[in-house]
Amino acid sequence: MHIDILTLFPDMFESPFQYSILKRAREKGIATIMLHDIRNWTTDKHRTVDDYPYGGGAGMVMMVEPIVKCIEELKSKRKYDEIIYLTPDGDLLDQSLANRLSTMENLLLLCGHYKGIDERIRQHFITREISIGDYVLSGGEMAAVILTDTIVRLIPGVLNDETSALSDSYQDQLISPPVYTRPADFRGFKVPDVLLSGNDKEIAKWRFEQSVQRTKNRRPELME
Ligand code: 6GU
Repeated sequence: MHIDILTLFPDMFESPFQYSILKRAREKGIATIMLHDIRNWTTDKHRTVDDYPYGGGAGMVMMVEPIVKCIEELKSKRKYDEIIYLTPDGDLLDQSLANRLSTMENLLLLCGHYKGIDERIRQHFITREISIGDYVLSGGEMAAVILTDTIVRLIPGVLNDETSALSDSYQDQLISPPVYTRPADFRGFKVPDVLLSGNDKEIAKWRFEQSVQRTKNRRPELME
């Protein structure tokens, strides 16, 4: 998969993509992630990317021209499955959307800032709008990091044990069961006996029951 990310702040992405699963995916060549500084597509000497909103009001709006020029240049090199704008009023990201996006070849992510981007970009160039939750971030960058992480870890070959993505919470509308590791007794806090029993069938049954119980207690709406 190839992901192009358009942002005013490419440095914000440096660290998150350099650890753990995202790092491994990039090193294996399974995912390539390229950052594009929108300012590089400005034409004036001040490299202006935002302007006052027509009609007045607070805040600045990201201008149509630099973003469209950047998108057009990238589109001339790749055919994008989706051109995604990260915005708090987009479709809510969930595991099923992540699963669908993880099957795609080329994605373009556009991060907004200030009061947002000129509406004409959304109307004519964006194919999908995504929010990561019902709260407001200062910009789309952290949302793009989260979206990238949820998608890339699902691409086959990224996780060592591919079944481990299948056992994630939400993957089957159930929350994951509790997990334990050594020691079996920590200050009298014991690991459940069944996990030490070596009985795979009993263990699987216990885990499933725990998942169901946890989901009922914590996220009953998932059981619908
Ligand atoms: Cl994608 N962007 C911003 N600015 N805020 C958000 C968001 C995105 N998703 C939730 N809140």
